[in-house]
Amino acid sequence: MKKRMLHIALLTSGGDAPGMNAAIRAVVRAGIYHGLEVTGILHGYEGLINEEFVKLNASSVANIIQRGGTILKTSRSLRFMTEEGMARAYENLVKNKIDGLITIGGDGTFRGAEQLNSKYNFPVIGVPGTIDNDMVGTDMTIGYDTAINTVVAAVDKIRDTAESHDRLFFVEVMGRDAGLIALRCGIAVGAEAILMPEAPVNIERLIDKLKNAKRKKNSKIIIIAEGDEAGGAFEIARKVTEKVKGYDARVTILGHIQRGGTPSCMDRVNASRLGYEAVLALLKSQQGIMVGIVNKEVAYTALKKSAKHMQKLDSELLKMLEVLSM
Ligand code: F6P
Repeated sequence: MKKRMLHIALLTSGGDAPGMNAAIRAVVRAGIYHGLEVTGILHGYEGLINEEFVKLNASSVANIIQRGGTILKTSRSLRFMTEEGMARAYENLVKNKIDGLITIGGDGTFRGAEQLNSKYNFPVIGVPGTIDNDMVGTDMTIGYDTAINTVVAAVDKIRDTAESHDRLFFVEVMGRDAGLIALRCGIAVGAEAILMPEAPVNIERLIDKLKNAKRKKNSKIIIIAEGDEAGGAFEIARKVTEKVKGYDARVTILGHIQRGGTPSCMDRVNASRLGYEAVLALLKSQQGIMVGIVNKEVAYTALKKSAKHMQKLDSELLKMLEVLSM
């Protein structure tokens, strides 16, 4: 017989993402609404191993929906991936009489969550939170919308100066193994080309494109996803400018600016819904799944599947960019 859910815990893990606080607020308040005790675990899986537990009530999460980052703090825990670390984490859950755990994070977080669930049969529900949007089972991960708007705002500023100086800019955006930030933002800023791991543009093609540019625009912007196999923005800029003369080139790496800031309306609403649904999933005795939203409907996906697979890149969008960026 399944144990009745009386006490739940939650943590955020991996890279933080704007909107995580909205998800935390939703888990806490939905939990309290359903008569549950709610415990927050600080510093992700590290805090689970070190027993950094705090009781949360409705006012602990007041006035956080609009704040970036995560009030629970986060970490990338290597210890949790060891047998010893995971055993300690499980012992702490049992010792503190916790019946179910909600983990908010990306693929690394879900790999850990899946193992905790399958190894110890402990109820775990995942909430997708990463700016990279590289998970299956949800249209949008928490933080992606804010991050892409941050990138667009930054690159628009770069366009102003690029245009004034007639320069070629190589702008590197985040997304360790995924080009979803690069693709959306590249289209939105009218980039001349996008380089990303899923669709490696051969450098020679980019060079030809720049050499043969029919319409000599005053500025050109190439968006590069940090995981691109041709190298980072500096390396690509070097390779290109060695072969294409006549451009005054510059490189900008946007970096962690993409992970911070006030969450967008979309992220706040998405995160609230996902947090709320994660509590309902635990109450329905679900475990080992991620809650997502697909075509406006709540969807459950096995943690195993979600952590291993990325969203497919929309190749039509890439084609469209080729046409529009002439
Ligand atoms: O969380 C996702 C992400 O922002 C990736 O896009 C990036 O590669 C990575 O995290 C950077 O991680 P860290 O802040 O640990 O260096």
